[in-house]
Amino acid sequence: MWKASAPSNIALIKYMGKESAVGNVAVNPSLSMTLSAFLTNVEIEPISGGEDRWEPLPSSAPLRAESTKRFVNFFTRIKQEREIAGSFLIRSGNNFPSDAGLASSASSFAALTMAAFQAFASVSGKPSPSLSEQAMVSRTGSGSSCRSFFSPWCAWEAREIGPVPSRLPDLTDLVAVIDSGFKKISSSEAHKRVQASALFEGRPERASTRQREIKTAMASGDLKRTAEIAWAELWDMHSLFHTASPPFFYFSPLSLAVLRWAERSWEETGTGPITTVDAGPNVHLLVPTAEKDRWRRELLAAVPGISLLESRA
Ligand code: DP6
Repeated sequence: MWKASAPSNIALIKYMGKESAVGNVAVNPSLSMTLSAFLTNVEIEPISGGEDRWEPLPSSAPLRAESTKRFVNFFTRIKQEREIAGSFLIRSGNNFPSDAGLASSASSFAALTMAAFQAFASVSGKPSPSLSEQAMVSRTGSGSSCRSFFSPWCAWEAREIGPVPSRLPDLTDLVAVIDSGFKKISSSEAHKRVQASALFEGRPERASTRQREIKTAMASGDLKRTAEIAWAELWDMHSLFHTASPPFFYFSPLSLAVLRWAERSWEETGTGPITTVDAGPNVHLLVPTAEKDRWRRELLAAVPGISLLESRA
């Protein structure tokens, strides 16, 4: 049996919009922090005959039929591309609550790719490809998963995936977990719809400029500048959502209350969290780990009624 686990990640520069859905070719570069507390575990074992199949690890929640199909099809495709014979059972599960809106495909596809390459290496007797090559393969299953291969910071720039040097302090992501109750638009659907937004023109250039700027800010340990760029990027991506065709949005009143709190903190005290929101209502607040308890207390006092999860990079 082969086992692997991989972390989720949260993007500050967002992968949004695909040049091609085949292989998940992004229109722009992206950059993220890995979230080591939010892990997917995958186990793979050979089975005799039949097709590859999936089941949840003990005490893990079942995937939706559509997600199971996408997961298994990805495995079967990369297996066949490498001419690996035999059938396999894949088991997987997350160590974080599946109803928290964090269940991202990033950690699942990264862990599946890592476990698959272990299996292929031992079946074929050939060595596994490098981590960057594995990340490129994982990208073809789910784009954002390629950034879960390098920690604590990872950049995905066309065919290059690798670590990003940073002099920022050690950060913890405080995740304000908010249930919007709205029907969820999947990120795969979001990638399609944003291309019809009038704001999509110029989007790859805006993201590329921010990618360069944020790397400079991170390399010099400039938390304030990093937060400004992440803030601009959050509103850029969500504005694409709000002006897409058909338009859609993820914010709930509580998301906005947390965002207002973060904004006020910067305005009134000159300091605050690096704030971002993915394709969902949860707000991610990256704060220095040494100060996380104080930020946690201040946020819960200002916005009662939210629950917080946390992860270090
Ligand atoms: C908003 O990687 O989930 O989280 O390639 O279709 O699987 P697919 O999309 P996915 O898109 C993630 C979009 C995002 C921003 C990001 O993580 O960069």
